[in-house]
Amino acid sequence: PDAYAVFGNPVAHSKSPWLHETFARQTGETLTYRAIEAQPGAFQDAIFGFMQEGGAGANVTAPFKLDACALADDCRDRAALAGAANCLKFEGGRIIADNFDGVGLTRDIEVNLGVPLAGKSVLLLGAGGAARGAIQPFLDAGPARLVVSNRTLEEASALGATEAWRGRIETCALADLGEESFDLVVNATAASLFGELPDIPPEVFGKDCLAYDLVYGKGLTPFLSFARLSRAAHIADGLGMLVEQAAEAFHWWRGVRPETGQIIKKMTVPLD
Ligand code: ATR
Repeated sequence: PDAYAVFGNPVAHSKSPWLHETFARQTGETLTYRAIEAQPGAFQDAIFGFMQEGGAGANVTAPFKLDACALADDCRDRAALAGAANCLKFEGGRIIADNFDGVGLTRDIEVNLGVPLAGKSVLLLGAGGAARGAIQPFLDAGPARLVVSNRTLEEASALGATEAWRGRIETCALADLGEESFDLVVNATAASLFGELPDIPPEVFGKDCLAYDLVYGKGLTPFLSFARLSRAAHIADGLGMLVEQAAEAFHWWRGVRPETGQIIKKMTVPLD
């Protein structure tokens, strides 16, 4: 059978092996999928070794997403724009890279949570790899406006100066978020990983607002807790995004799209 793996460090906690094995059973595909911990600085060797063993493709998680993009012979547009790849396909000794995090996110918001992005005002918090990956898929969904706000203004401004996004996104520092409110507020900062709250005013959560945190498996993060206190109508963590990006990867590799709704339902833990 074709072999796949997720590369990261640490990677033992990854849900990807379980997800892809579940997709395979569901669609009748035959494959193997395992987690491989690569050492810092040894990502390329780990990938080449896996290719030599006959690997067909790989997922890539922290801290190797930038390396994955740099390593590829062909880095697809959205991965190049994100500066990061989370999925590789090996074809005749060539490495093709793509990034499904952003489409997984928009799919979760629009399809699973039922919040169409067209015409909405969106606030994206953060300017690192995670935020970068979300910008183009958000823009493609046609929001009325997309504001990218970061603790450090320079990082946000740099995104605003990127050719593909110049004039299409607004940028500001967290400290400059005023009384304005949004339909959707997405936390793409790393703050939740440290149990921290990005320094934002409660006014950002508009009437009927959806607050979305990219992390998953951390329960009610400080951001989601603050959103609820600030009367955001809906809150969600990144579990659906995780499952959706995995489904996109599976589709890219195998040509069949798994059904995700039941799996998300099964994995969902109440946010309290
Ligand atoms: P990732 O790949 O997860 O995006 P990253 O590229 O290291 O990680 O980016 C981390 C992001 O989280 C940055 O936008 C960072 O803000 P700065 O550019 O100002 O450093 C943001 N971040 C981390 N901790 C934060 C906190 N406590 N409050 C607000 N933003 C935070």
